[in-house]
Amino acid sequence: MKTIFSGIQPSGIPTIGNYIGAMQQFTKLQDDYQCFFCVVDEHAITVPQDRLKLREQILQLAALYVAVGIDPKKAAIFIQSEVPAHAEAGWIVQCNTYVGELERMTQFKDKSQKNNTAGVSAALLTYPPLMVADIILYNTDLVPVGEDQKQHLELTRDFVDRFNNRYAAKNQTILVKPEVHIPEQGARIMSLQDPTKKMSKSDNNQKNFISMMDTPDMIRKKIKSAVTDSSGIIEYNVAEKPGISNLLTIYSAFSGQPIDTLVSQYATAGYGQFKTDLAEAIVNVIEPIQQRQAELLESGELDLILDEGAEQAARVANKTLQKMKNAVGLGRKP
Ligand code: AMP
Ligand code: TRP
Repeated sequence: MKTIFSGIQPSGIPTIGNYIGAMQQFTKLQDDYQCFFCVVDEHAITVPQDRLKLREQILQLAALYVAVGIDPKKAAIFIQSEVPAHAEAGWIVQCNTYVGELERMTQFKDKSQKNNTAGVSAALLTYPPLMVADIILYNTDLVPVGEDQKQHLELTRDFVDRFNNRYAAKNQTILVKPEVHIPEQGARIMSLQDPTKKMSKSDNNQKNFISMMDTPDMIRKKIKSAVTDSSGIIEYNVAEKPGISNLLTIYSAFSGQPIDTLVSQYATAGYGQFKTDLAEAIVNVIEPIQQRQAELLESGELDLILDEGAEQAARVANKTLQKMKNAVGLGRKP
């Protein structure tokens, strides 16, 4: 069976962008792959975090993984910092990565600009090697992510080639080269107020995103005030109608109906009706997820899932880490 790894940062409350671009794919893929889904808390601290809030968000995200339908019997759900192999392998990856490669990463450029008042941490630059480590430790074949992570996956693939060339015996490999898996639709859910910008959980303006913990009323209000255009026609055309096209993508993801079907269904309807129905489609999916998430956070069930997940992950990760150490010559013996 092939292996999947993916991670989400507990750096805020996940948005419906994270749900559509990442989590929804996780639940679809879990039957056919050996899966590892991680709460990447070590990535989150590359920018300043409030420690108590971070702890809370780690658990909320872990509970959300289960609540959206990831089955802990099929997939290992765990917290990155509870499997020390990630940080250790990250160091070996850094030692085989060039500063020039990292400076080219667009997420680094964006985040270092946004956070430059507080000073840019060295880890903001070395964040992709940690992500590379996350992926390679599990001999990952496939990484389901949204569009914004494509560049990091290219870096991972380049790294695997370089590491194997440098350290593996001729015609052999030590690390597995992963493929990226980006959904055909919903890989880049856009901001509700500015549909030319990505929806992001760290956006300062709450009206730009719908979080997975928003109440039904907040969801209705945010959809109602989402930016559209003045033509009044519901059609999918990202260049000319980015607002409506984004809402159609969201509607399709939450209702399971293809965009074409929605377009014909709303051919004679106005934006008002379309938005009302869209909000209900989102609420119908999110409400039961929120209930399950709350139950998990109150019970001891989540701790058991995370303990078991970390154990399962460490068993695989430690083996790869040992292979990497041997390859580069660390320590005393294989
Ligand atoms: P992050 O919130 O940066 O940890 O992202 C976690 C996952 O959600 C990654 O796979 C991202 O590519 C995906 N993601 C984040 N924002 C969006 C978005 N606006 N649309 C689609 N996918 C997204
Ligand atoms: N960098 C990813 C993001 O910002 C999160 C992440 C960390 C990740 N490690 C990963 C995603 C490994 C996939 C695989 O969204």
